[in-house]
Amino acid sequence: MIKTIDPWGSELVEDYEKIIKDFGLEQFDAKMFPNPNRLMRRGIIFAGRDLKQIADAIKNKKKFYVLTGIMPTGNKIHFGHKMVVESMKYFQEHGAETFILVADLEAAAARGVDLEEAKRRAINFHIPAFIALGLDPKKTKFYFQSENMDVAKIASRASKRTTANEFKAIYGNLEPGRIYSAFTQVGDILYPQLRERMPGIIPVGIDQDPHIRLTRDIVKRLKEDKFFAPSSIVNKFTPSLDGDLKMSKSKPESCIELPEDPKSVCKRLMRAKTGGRDTLEEQKKLGGQPEKCVIFEIYKQHLIEDDKELQKVYNDCKAGKLMCGEDKKNCCELMARFMEELTFKIEKAKKQVDKLEFIR
Ligand code: TRP
Repeated sequence: MIKTIDPWGSELVEDYEKIIKDFGLEQFDAKMFPNPNRLMRRGIIFAGRDLKQIADAIKNKKKFYVLTGIMPTGNKIHFGHKMVVESMKYFQEHGAETFILVADLEAAAARGVDLEEAKRRAINFHIPAFIALGLDPKKTKFYFQSENMDVAKIASRASKRTTANEFKAIYGNLEPGRIYSAFTQVGDILYPQLRERMPGIIPVGIDQDPHIRLTRDIVKRLKEDKFFAPSSIVNKFTPSLDGDLKMSKSKPESCIELPEDPKSVCKRLMRAKTGGRDTLEEQKKLGGQPEKCVIFEIYKQHLIEDDKELQKVYNDCKAGKLMCGEDKKNCCELMARFMEELTFKIEKAKKQVDKLEFIR
């Protein structure tokens, strides 16, 4: 039986290879894309669907789009969002029409967030934060689910082409608020094609893959509409500081949100799980184990852009030259710089919100 993944749950994914097999994903091949970014080069983007149609669109300078949604719950984002925005930025820079929607209807139906409150949060924080992470605001179109009737229309038609059994097979769950949110998301994913049919890519964490599968199934059934089935790329999780696969707010001591006060983050980093040995002596002799180290994974995913510099940290650790204490201090410095810059950029982006293009 194929395992289901619940996009609203906090289930962990142990084995990325197995995920590829179980869900019928393609393994991601960075060679397909020009100037692959850090996440692509380093295998942090590990899978996808229908990647060739996007690679071809880039190569042949054909129209395509990239789209994601922001759930305006809470007042922080996390490293998962950062990776999605970095993927968006890559495709934006390679010619994609760019869409960001605020999933206010989903926040209301699945999480009970009031629409007005969702809007306030999105305007005051989430949208500026997404811009701060690198998108070109002048080339990005925004909308609120609750203000987009076209999304509602696609969602309603899509719901007519799906059975409860199919929904259950994909989501493992038939909760009405979730069914509603899933169809709205199908509407989001196909919306850019209403004006003109074109391929689109949706960067996701694996928890959002069910929505991609549902949309792809529905596109097949809405044959007369001739929609392109959406492509996706899937990134790995950023590990929890205690070494678990995914950071989660349920363990605040092991979780880093964005942005946060650098001093408080540093305290948590100093306690993170590393690939260090039992004693200093042993580590000097045997070297450390960066492949098991959360700090190294954070460098690799987020803090060290330059491949040579990353390789040097790896080599020094392996050679027993770089000890965990010193390494953690370096990590704190890089993290502090990152957080300060992000905070600065968010404040700057807040001042631009009234100049953004909102689709109504
Ligand atoms: N469900 C997504 C989340 O929980 C938000 C979302 C809504 C979305 N519509 C989307 C993501 C379309 C990608 C594409 O964060």
